Amino acid sequence: MTKKAWLLGGVAVLAAISIGAKKFTASPAVDGPATAAKIMASLTERCPMATPGDVAAFDACRTTIGQGPEGEAVGSGSVLWGGEQPSLALKDKNLTWFRGDLFLRMYVSLYMFTGEWTGETREDGTYVVRAQAYFRNELPPGHFPYPFWHSATKWDAYEKSNQISLYLSADGRVKMVTRHSGGDDSARPAAYRHVEPPAFAGQWNWTDTSGQAQPQVTLFSDLYSAGNPHLPELDQRYRAFALNLRDADCESCHVPDGHKLMRKLTLLNTPLHTAGEVEATLRSIREATMPVNKQGDKVRLEPALRETLLRNGEEFRRLLNDADAWERASSTGRVARATAPRG
Ligand code: HEC
Repeated sequence: MTKKAWLLGGVAVLAAISIGAKKFTASPAVDGPATAAKIMASLTERCPMATPGDVAAFDACRTTIGQGPEGEAVGSGSVLWGGEQPSLALKDKNLTWFRGDLFLRMYVSLYMFTGEWTGETREDGTYVVRAQAYFRNELPPGHFPYPFWHSATKWDAYEKSNQISLYLSADGRVKMVTRHSGGDDSARPAAYRHVEPPAFAGQWNWTDTSGQAQPQVTLFSDLYSAGNPHLPELDQRYRAFALNLRDADCESCHVPDGHKLMRKLTLLNTPLHTAGEVEATLRSIREATMPVNKQGDKVRLEPALRETLLRNGEEFRRLLNDADAWERASSTGRVARATAPRG
């Protein structure tokens, strides 16, 4: 199912289940509070409160997050993430798509959980878990998956956030996660202070003074084991594919400030972000729904570029699958257990 179908269909499916529950007896809905309790216990154990610049605590969190019930609930399908935007309907919220396991590792790990949470059941059957959590604002710049400080408002929103909400569907899957500053600030560490981030020079990717490519948390060498035999070829093929994406102008829109053009953003600006979107990307080229221009009209790709994009993209996807399969076979816990498409 495409992400758009999922977005539209998900609501209808949930509505059908809650209507069904009134007419007939039992619906196969999961036990929201029990599932939430398991997820929250796991998140709090893996990502407990620490000082906001504690890199070891961050690494412990991001390398083990996803191995518990939170991993089952998010899976390797698509999840939407962004600010809560409480006054807006789902269709109007600015949110971003991610592959579930990569999202937990790159984004949820930026938070420290106190273990406090509340839950509520929505009319459509969704169970919303509101967890008390605070942002690790003192990490080195390359530990954020992109420079959140490209917008002062965004950095401020991350710093002030004190609540992470998980939207648990009746099928037990988390399909949306939001951050919000409308929660409880009372457990925020006394030492928490505003961090003035580096100036944003317009670069989503950069090389630091030691020659390290940044943001390092978005690199294949960060996700996969050093002994993964597919790593060198994967890296090479990604580079070729990324150049093709640039030649096709995809990166002028599919970058973190792309919300001005789309409410549900697809990011293609780093290796792991592109990895998470490879299926949708290939489909969009195959079906010629992309690229478009700023007015939203379809733009025809030059046949040679289209052909190269598909060839490098399919090879990139094959290597990703091989690399993931190797991690699973070696039980490293670095990628989601199953790639089952979401229902
Ligand atoms: C001028 C801006 C622009 C350019 C250039 C552009 N896109 Fe898009 N892209 C969009 C917009 C807007 C959407 C959202 C469409 C919607 O949801 O209605 C989108 C959606 C997508 C999606 C998500 C579709 C889905 O169903 O998951 C993918 C994947 C995508 N684009 C890939 C690409 C690729 C690959 C290129 C380059 C070949 C590209 N785009 C070039 C603006 C752009």
